[in-house]
Amino acid sequence: MSDPDPLPLELVISRADDVASGVRLFELRDPAGGGLPPFTAGSHLTVRVPNGAERKYSLCNDPAERDRYEIAVKRDTTGRGASVSFVDAARVGDRLRASPPDNAFALDERAPAAIFIAGGIGITPMLAMIRALDARGATAWKLYYLVRDRASAPFVDVLEDDAWRSRVRIHEDGGDLGRSFDLWPVLEKPGNAHVYCCGPRPLMDAVRDMTGHWPAGSIHFESFVEGAALARPEDRPFTVRLARSGGEVVVPAGVTILEALRRAGRTVPSSCESGTCGTCRTGLLAGEAEHRDLVLMQDEQASAVMICVSRALSGELVLDL
Ligand code: FES
Repeated sequence: MSDPDPLPLELVISRADDVASGVRLFELRDPAGGGLPPFTAGSHLTVRVPNGAERKYSLCNDPAERDRYEIAVKRDTTGRGASVSFVDAARVGDRLRASPPDNAFALDERAPAAIFIAGGIGITPMLAMIRALDARGATAWKLYYLVRDRASAPFVDVLEDDAWRSRVRIHEDGGDLGRSFDLWPVLEKPGNAHVYCCGPRPLMDAVRDMTGHWPAGSIHFESFVEGAALARPEDRPFTVRLARSGGEVVVPAGVTILEALRRAGRTVPSSCESGTCGTCRTGLLAGEAEHRDLVLMQDEQASAVMICVSRALSGELVLDL
């Protein structure tokens, strides 16, 4: 008997609309018209796109909706072809395999305020979060939406609707780093808000660098680039030694520690696989790690490592596994 499909949901594309230059919004439903597994704001689906690749996409519709999912896909010609395949080949009526919703970017609805910082297509999880907060009406929020230009920025019309306009700041930089929005006045004084950031890595690095003095647990990141896609040309192989269970695993260039462990039959919990959620945190007993996550504080980096993204500066890491 063949293994069950790891993506157990079958969904049908019920709508596909261009919502900005190179960005298409897909509405997905149960083919039989039934209800769908519920989701919370910040959740994503893993979807098998037409070329066979599997990619995570944030859900952007109202989490109270039980009969549809909405995801927005940016056609990225510099990527590995998954988004191009999705936008170019997927049609209304096509069926797709998907995971149930998972959330590695959860909204803390108890916080009295939220600051959302979105770069480009990173706006998608924020939309669901704003919709969820508006439904409760108890949390003040403000959105900083940083875009190249309005033509390539999805959902500008929705965000500038009368209901939200006063809480949304849209900044166009024209692709010029010199015209980037200065976030320091927003983040200089920690308040009682939680900060949510999703966008290109330089934006998330800047927010992390500006929020080191904020209370632990109040800064949240979501990345849409995962695992091996974060590889760098200078990456070198190294070895991880597993102190508790014994054994050694070689981590080749272009493969994450998490993936190398998986290939060796070792399972470690993970979720975002982009260094933003903290699920794969692993004790570091010896060796020097090259930390590439957005979770660990500086004083934690000598004793822990996020194995979904980080690598080694030394030839060997000894992990508490
Ligand atoms: Fe989220 Fe590693 S799985 S930080």
